[in-house]
Amino acid sequence: MGMSTFFMLVLFLGLCHCTTAEQKRSTYIVHMAKSEMPASFEHHTHWYDASLKSASDSAEMLYTYTNAIHGFSTQLTPEEADSLEFQPGVLFVLPELKYELHTTRTPEFLGLDHKNNELFPESNSASDVIIGVLDTGIWPESKSFDDAGLGPVPASWKGECQVGTNFTTSACNRKLIGARYFSKGYEATLGPIETSKESKSPRDDDGHGTHTASTAAGSVVAGASLFGYAPGTARGMATRARIAAYKVCWIGGCFSSDILMAIDQAIDDNVDVLSMSLGGGMSDYFRDSVAIGAFSAMEKGILISCSAGNAGPSAYSLSNSAPWITTVGAGTLDRDFPAYLSLGNGKNISGVSLYRGNSEATTLTMTPFIYAGNASNSTSGNLCMMGSLIPEKVKGKIVMCDRGVNARVQKGTVVKAAGGVGMVLSNTAANGEELVADAHLLPATAVGQKDGEDVKNYLFSDSNPTTTILFEGTKVGIEPSPVVAAFSSRGPNSITPDILKPDIVAPGVNILAGWSGAVGPTGLSIDSRRVSFNIISGTSMSCPHVSGLAALLKGAHPEWSPAAIRSALMTTAYTAYKNGQKLQDVATGKPSTPFDHGAGHVDPISALNPGLVYDLTVDDYLNFLCALNYTESEITSLAKRKFTCDESKKYSVRDLNYPSFAVNLASGSSSSAVLKYSRTLTNVGPAGTYKVSVTGDTPGVKIAVEPESLSFTQANEKKSYTVSFTVTGSLPSSSMSSFGKLEWSDGKHIVGSPIAISWS
Ligand SMILES: *[C@@H]1O[C@H](CO)[C@@H](O)[C@H](O)[C@H]1NC(C)=O
Ligand SMILES: *[C@@H]1O[C@H](CO)[C@@H](O)[C@H](O)[C@H]1NC(C)=O
Ligand SMILES: *[C@@H]1O[C@H](CO)[C@@H](O)[C@H](O)[C@H]1NC(C)=O
Ligand SMILES: *[C@@H]1O[C@H](CO)[C@@H](O)[C@H](O)[C@H]1NC(C)=O
Ligand SMILES: *[C@@H]1O[C@H](CO)[C@@H](O)[C@H](O)[C@H]1NC(C)=O
Repeated sequence: MGMSTFFMLVLFLGLCHCTTAEQKRSTYIVHMAKSEMPASFEHHTHWYDASLKSASDSAEMLYTYTNAIHGFSTQLTPEEADSLEFQPGVLFVLPELKYELHTTRTPEFLGLDHKNNELFPESNSASDVIIGVLDTGIWPESKSFDDAGLGPVPASWKGECQVGTNFTTSACNRKLIGARYFSKGYEATLGPIETSKESKSPRDDDGHGTHTASTAAGSVVAGASLFGYAPGTARGMATRARIAAYKVCWIGGCFSSDILMAIDQAIDDNVDVLSMSLGGGMSDYFRDSVAIGAFSAMEKGILISCSAGNAGPSAYSLSNSAPWITTVGAGTLDRDFPAYLSLGNGKNISGVSLYRGNSEATTLTMTPFIYAGNASNSTSGNLCMMGSLIPEKVKGKIVMCDRGVNARVQKGTVVKAAGGVGMVLSNTAANGEELVADAHLLPATAVGQKDGEDVKNYLFSDSNPTTTILFEGTKVGIEPSPVVAAFSSRGPNSITPDILKPDIVAPGVNILAGWSGAVGPTGLSIDSRRVSFNIISGTSMSCPHVSGLAALLKGAHPEWSPAAIRSALMTTAYTAYKNGQKLQDVATGKPSTPFDHGAGHVDPISALNPGLVYDLTVDDYLNFLCALNYTESEITSLAKRKFTCDESKKYSVRDLNYPSFAVNLASGSSSSAVLKYSRTLTNVGPAGTYKVSVTGDTPGVKIAVEPESLSFTQANEKKSYTVSFTVTGSLPSSSMSSFGKLEWSDGKHIVGSPIAISWS
């Protein structure tokens, strides 16, 4: 019986196979071992073609890669992909992956970092630094890309200004020196770009790319604001650096084959810094196109800054955690946009909003107030989903909606469509007390979970509830600030637990920067408003802060490697407020840990003059891959050359010269077990003697540094030391973490490294 069913099934599938014209193809990225090319081929592209032909008669190349990887991308059936993997010289055939932008799309307050660039030398080299931004493209008309006062395009630049829909070469200037778009992978999967909906060109129809590029290196623009919120002068971190835009993200997402080609091109174009506010998955480095491309960029001396992701506050939620990437989490600024709720019972509730004005709001004085869950037949009526509110119940009222599922601003439009006159958006347990200010289309404010509960109690107990929303504009000097944003992705690092990630946090909440003229501030199609600047949040916004700061450091110290620049940013980052209290995590209301903030919050002025740096070379990273026990093919696909790990050598991840320490101990570790970490410091400051100190509360572990003092007599001198983590008698229970800090100081510089100890 079972047998015959099986047969019929096979037959049925077989018939299907015979009658369908062709099996569905999808995109693959093919990594080739270029050094294995048979001598009979004149050029590697001929060899790639021949390899592809041997697996498929009809497949065509999408891209041929030269710099980011050796190989190509193409569309294949699963069978063809399998057969290609067995061709000589083929290392891997990896399926296309979709990546996402790391924005929460939460229009909020303005704010450039209060740290400004004034202390940085305005040297010519600062304006020779080129930041490549992989994103949704660029809105060249933004004032942030005005090139007044900038000298000629740096001689090192080899890129171009690619023409396309509504985009000509005149879009580029001495600030926006280049722009390209990459859509072949996207179109192979999702079909031709509909130019009525998005520009097949570097033009940014989304806003995200304009926002990140202007945050990194936007020119100074006086009188910037969003509807008067966060008014002031908008400026990127590196106002004199140049921008090259690489559009890789489209309405349907960002595809790995396009991302890889953009990195390939950016390397060729000669960018100095690559800023990528996107990510996807948490696959091993040799399967992740961002990590693969970043490795090649690092080999060329390019610093790669990426967003950590917005999957916090859960642990192990990081993306972009390769050690050759600078991984950036998000913190708040000291600005807020209060919009109070004044209840009919006389109580005031604090909320936030970027609603445009208060002329309508003033007419809402003590307006009837209702909970959406009481104005809908739907079981999820509290969420204010499209069409779920009963107009007779909400007409003329302020409606309270719960956060979740549909977009926050859309909830407001649902209330408006049903006849409501205002909205109160309440957090649920999922969001806790983190408030998001939005540019709502009707008078609205957002409140935290606890306050939301209070408001609901009032709504359910009063027979005639009323409320008013009072918009108070922009408030600065909020304390404490920064605090780590709840959405900011957290460690530990799920791929390499012995490397601490994120590396650092930077402003990523309520950031004001340039915006596209093609969409409104909410990004919703019903939002017909157009703004020059927008306020949004995400690690997407913190990443370009660090990209810009890296460009400033590169300008000040052109000889520094990407690892030296990252080290300077990390070892000078701060983990306490001016009053000595530890940085807070908004998700817990408690001090944040190195798994939340890495080395701490970026402090650009101190980073200029770090004293010592932890440097890294390409070989150090290759040794790191050996320590991970990567196969020869895996290493070759990343390094693009044959590299054989030395069988006789003992490689250890703990010896990667990283500016932080992640220590993993098994809770069964025998007392007196020791883990040793070796590090080498390079002097980039004056001669001096540095002494070490270790602080923190690390129960069950004794930390010793040898030697305890290092003397440097000249520039670029290197000195090594070893840190031993010894398990003492008293073992803590499993899955506990403890934290400390290791600092070298000569009395003038403090070179700090976070320590995170985990028991499992
Ligand atoms: C083309 O770009 C201009 C800005 O130069 C913009 O105002 C216009 O809306 C764009 N047109 C389309 C169809 O996107
Ligand atoms: C509530 O806030 C308003 C506006 O700031 C203020 O006038 C009023 O006194 C406050 N009421 C209470 C009870 O704090
Ligand atoms: C409103 O909804 C809440 C909770 O969903 C419920 O407890 C309450 O009884 C409802 N009130 C009315 C008047 O239906
Ligand atoms: C909700 O339910 C009531 C009573 O069952 C019904 O009269 C009304 O049409 C429903 N409204 C909506 C919007 O579904
Ligand atoms: C690599 O292999 C060695 C020897 O088998 C092992 O001791 C080590 O833990 C492995 N390293 C990693 C990172 O898996």
